[in-house]
Amino acid sequence: MADLLREIGTVGTDPARGGYSRPGYSDAELTLREWFVDHAGRRGLDVDADRNGIVWAWWNPTGGPLHDAVVTGSHLDSVPGGGAFDGPLGVASALVAVDRLQAAGVRPARPLGLAVFPEEEGSRFGVACLGSRLLTGDIAPERAAALADPDGVTFAEAAARHGLDPRHLGRDRAALDRIGLFVELHVEQGRGLIDLDRPVAVATSILGHGRWRLTVTGQGNHAGTTLMGDRRDPLVAAAAMVTTVRDIAAAVPDARATVGRLQPVPGGTNVIASAVHLWLDARHPDDAVTADVVAAVHDRARSIAAAEGCAVQLVEESRSPTVHLDRALRDRLSGILPDAPLLATGAGHDAGVLSAHVPAGMLFVRNPTGVSHAPAEHVEDADAESGADALAAVLLDLLTAST
Ligand code: GLV
Ligand code: MN
Ligand code: MN
Repeated sequence: MADLLREIGTVGTDPARGGYSRPGYSDAELTLREWFVDHAGRRGLDVDADRNGIVWAWWNPTGGPLHDAVVTGSHLDSVPGGGAFDGPLGVASALVAVDRLQAAGVRPARPLGLAVFPEEEGSRFGVACLGSRLLTGDIAPERAAALADPDGVTFAEAAARHGLDPRHLGRDRAALDRIGLFVELHVEQGRGLIDLDRPVAVATSILGHGRWRLTVTGQGNHAGTTLMGDRRDPLVAAAAMVTTVRDIAAAVPDARATVGRLQPVPGGTNVIASAVHLWLDARHPDDAVTADVVAAVHDRARSIAAAEGCAVQLVEESRSPTVHLDRALRDRLSGILPDAPLLATGAGHDAGVLSAHVPAGMLFVRNPTGVSHAPAEHVEDADAESGADALAAVLLDLLTAST
């Protein structure tokens, strides 16, 4: 595992932010995909990319139809300035698990698929798990095609540049039908396994979450000539909204709400902004409570904006309900890995999107810093090996057991 991860250790490093910036379809992400394709080829896997840009690698020694496959994998894109393991750990573990099975002379009775999902973080085009949402039909292809990155490049344009036909985006029944079940291994993104003193966990649930864009509009003007009392400054309103988001969520047990991205327009030191976009990420186990939190934020944001002579508009960009991962698969994973505790996660995953369509499960690997979506995210080599061993044990059971 360490050798494999070391091979990609310099891809997409971000000297300005620290850590890695590997947006979907960036040079960095494409380099990682090539790395995956190369390694899949070395293991004798058949690689294809589907019409939504998901890369698949198949181990199918019986030569039967690609149907009812055991699929594992993750993503290779990152948040801006993210860690080394969120995504790549699952992809590298899938490759190493294949090594383990091949070295043991295993001959799968059903196909094994390795999948790499594009734009899982939604860091470039705004909607998380875009690849799996397109595959499953959870996002309309026209909407996905029109999503634009901060430079105004649409997803359709980026996809076309990389060999996809934007007219063929969307629900892919044939690709989905190949999946019998999906297991994603992922670095743990909190402190659960530190506290439990264990290297690997089996996932129970994925916290419901969503993204909303607030646009505050005021009057752009000159920083020197506009008296303080004459301003309609949307950035002043936005600043109050950020603290309001924190205060509202802090008052609701189990709620989490974050403004991690804020963009003043036009964004000049000596310019009073004319507008500000800020993005709200809100999460709660009960989707109705998440909706209440967002409604409360919207309500307060309107009053704050009015008090500054501004206006505010809120638009939902994506929403994912709380997911309870397939109970039978989870019990099976626990049976294969009796020492692995059960753990819920507050982070989103392609496994969550897929779970509405196929049985899906997850394994988490300890992160000794408890920090994720930041350069401090870490996995010790020994734990990465334990994760790959656990995934190999799971795949062995799923590929060879009669049920
Ligand atoms: C992705 O990791 C998310 O939880 O937003
Ligand atoms: Mn991830
Ligand atoms: Mn992530």
